[in-house]
Amino acid sequence: MGNNLLQGKKGIIFGALNPDSIAWKVAERAHEEGATLTLTNTPVALRMGETKSLADKLNTIVIGADATKVEDLNNLFIESMEVLGGKIDFVLHSIGMSPNVRKERHYSDLDYNYLDKTLDVSAVSFHKVLQTAKKLDAINEWGSVVALSYVAAQRTFFGYNDMADAKSLLESIARSFGYIYGRERHVRINTISQSPTLTTAGSGVKGFDRLLDFSERMSPLGNASAEECADYTITLFSDLTKKVTMQNLFHDGGFSNMGMSLRALQQYEKGLGLDEDEHKFD
Ligand SMILES: NC(=O)c1ccc[n+]([C@@H]2O[C@H](COP(=O)([O-])OP(=O)(O)OC[C@H]3O[C@@H](n4cnc5c(N)ncnc54)[C@H](O)[C@@H]3O)[C@@H](O)[C@H]2O)c1
Repeated sequence: MGNNLLQGKKGIIFGALNPDSIAWKVAERAHEEGATLTLTNTPVALRMGETKSLADKLNTIVIGADATKVEDLNNLFIESMEVLGGKIDFVLHSIGMSPNVRKERHYSDLDYNYLDKTLDVSAVSFHKVLQTAKKLDAINEWGSVVALSYVAAQRTFFGYNDMADAKSLLESIARSFGYIYGRERHVRINTISQSPTLTTAGSGVKGFDRLLDFSERMSPLGNASAEECADYTITLFSDLTKKVTMQNLFHDGGFSNMGMSLRALQQYEKGLGLDEDEHKFD
């Protein structure tokens, strides 16, 4: 049930592919909290995914845009302002993709064209979104922009590959742009570093089921779900967090500050998963 935290606010949500997507849950929660919004995804995702059915449910439209293409982003902001009847108050960047991960390229044998694509889709697109919005002056004062990150930006995780580099860059863009957009327009920019979550993008990571289990055992509060991530995101879009900007905010049940937990130690003692060829996919 909503608390009208986003009553009267207008938003754009990137990345709702199917009901597992974190962006899907955020869009549903934002709607529940009284916001109006547009949804966007790539033309391919719109053909393969279920974004349109979410739009119907939320009584809105989907605007196709490849987030690496500035022209698409321009259209997206202009059309969204037309449809929603004014400037935007919140934006969710929930986009990630690595061809190196998809093709199981080892981190010491990356394809550099793929790496360019990983960085462009998963990180530089965030800069493109922000720069486009700023040039169009499309975001209201005290608006809020959130992108989704992962703790592999700070620490090395088996199998996360070049997405770790993309997340580091994403978090850096939030800081660098957060300074400028905050100073000039009071727009705040943050990243949420979310627990591993079972989604289409998440399950592309090698050994994802074991990562989920490990992270659940390590986190005193357990893994954060996509629904819980949506709740947290809503607080950042709301006026209750107006002075929070340029932060990478961990939403991970405490995982990022743990070294070893009793539950993980007990499982380790049982010898689970020690036979993997550790050089194959890291
Ligand atoms: N699932 C996890 O374990 C987890 C953990 C931490 C952070 N995240 C991050 O959360 C975000 C959302 O991922 P998800 O887990 O909900 O998976 P998802 O697969 O549901 O969402 C990824 C989205 O990115 C979109 N996308 C890909 N290329 C694009 C492009 N060029 N332009 C616009 N959109 C594009 C896809 O169509 C898809 O909708 C990603 O940034 C991901 O890295 C996920």
